[in-house]
Amino acid sequence: MEPRGRGRGRGRHSPSTAPVVVRYEESERGSGSKEKNSSADSDSVEMRVGKLSIGDDKPAASGFDICPPKQAGSVVLKPPLFLKNREKRQSSNSRSNVVVSLRPGMVFLKGYLSLSDQEMIVKRCRELGVGSGGFYQPGYGEDTKMHLKMMCLGKNWDPQSGQYGDRRPFDGAKPPQIPPEFHSHVHSALKDSNALLPSISPDICIVNFYSQTGRLGLHQDKDESPDSLRLGLPVISFSIGDSADFLYADHRDLDQPQKLLLQSGDVLIFGGPSRNIFHGVASIHPNTAPNLLLQHTNLRPGRLNLTFRRFLT
Ligand code: SIN
Ligand code: MN
Repeated sequence: MEPRGRGRGRGRHSPSTAPVVVRYEESERGSGSKEKNSSADSDSVEMRVGKLSIGDDKPAASGFDICPPKQAGSVVLKPPLFLKNREKRQSSNSRSNVVVSLRPGMVFLKGYLSLSDQEMIVKRCRELGVGSGGFYQPGYGEDTKMHLKMMCLGKNWDPQSGQYGDRRPFDGAKPPQIPPEFHSHVHSALKDSNALLPSISPDICIVNFYSQTGRLGLHQDKDESPDSLRLGLPVISFSIGDSADFLYADHRDLDQPQKLLLQSGDVLIFGGPSRNIFHGVASIHPNTAPNLLLQHTNLRPGRLNLTFRRFLT
């Protein structure tokens, strides 16, 4: 997927078996690659370590929770009525038919995923993300962390080697399978894009979660198989949660890349002659996620992005 060195268990519980929640601040600093000396994401992270009591088995650490349970006593501010009504209108279950061709091989489906599609995707990502093979903070080396959390489905992508594999090198976990519901959304988006691109059944999905300070440097997705790249098999990207400034360009060193605002529910497809575009996420727009999505999922502040790809032809 990305070039090397690029500046790039869970549980229901009763009160008596409540898991111990350890909060800590991440403090990784980039060094030794493109993002050298830039500070990494600094959101606080919760690691669920299971119930602790004398004689307990070793607690099983699990993945980053993108939808942490509401804290007792936390105050939820109600959005103004006009905002709620506008969101309700926008979030009907019908799909948007706004399809924009940005350049050959690159198609933008504005507001394609309905609110209920988005909720389903967030909930499935949350379930998978807290389990084995779930969300973690990836890095390119010992001291160089990416500014996001990542979970791979189908196959694992290793940022250090730039290679795909069946297990994560650092903990041996197998990536969860891509949920069948995700496949049907990818399939419909490709069909509705009317793009002159080969259709794919994805065997990889990389799920990124950006906190409000998250970002991703310009890069190409080029670690899929040579045949997949040669045929220009498309990458399909789903955006959910806070909006983001997405950049793309033909060259990494271009001064002025094109900028596209990706909002919750948007789908972007790039394949064919655009398969090798440089792309990245410059910034996240805080507090822009649909309120209803937050209320229904408890998604933490930030943005969820899923990119579906096909490794093997
Ligand atoms: C990626 O390029 O892997 C993710 C892009 C995005 O978050 O929109
Ligand atoms: Mn990418």
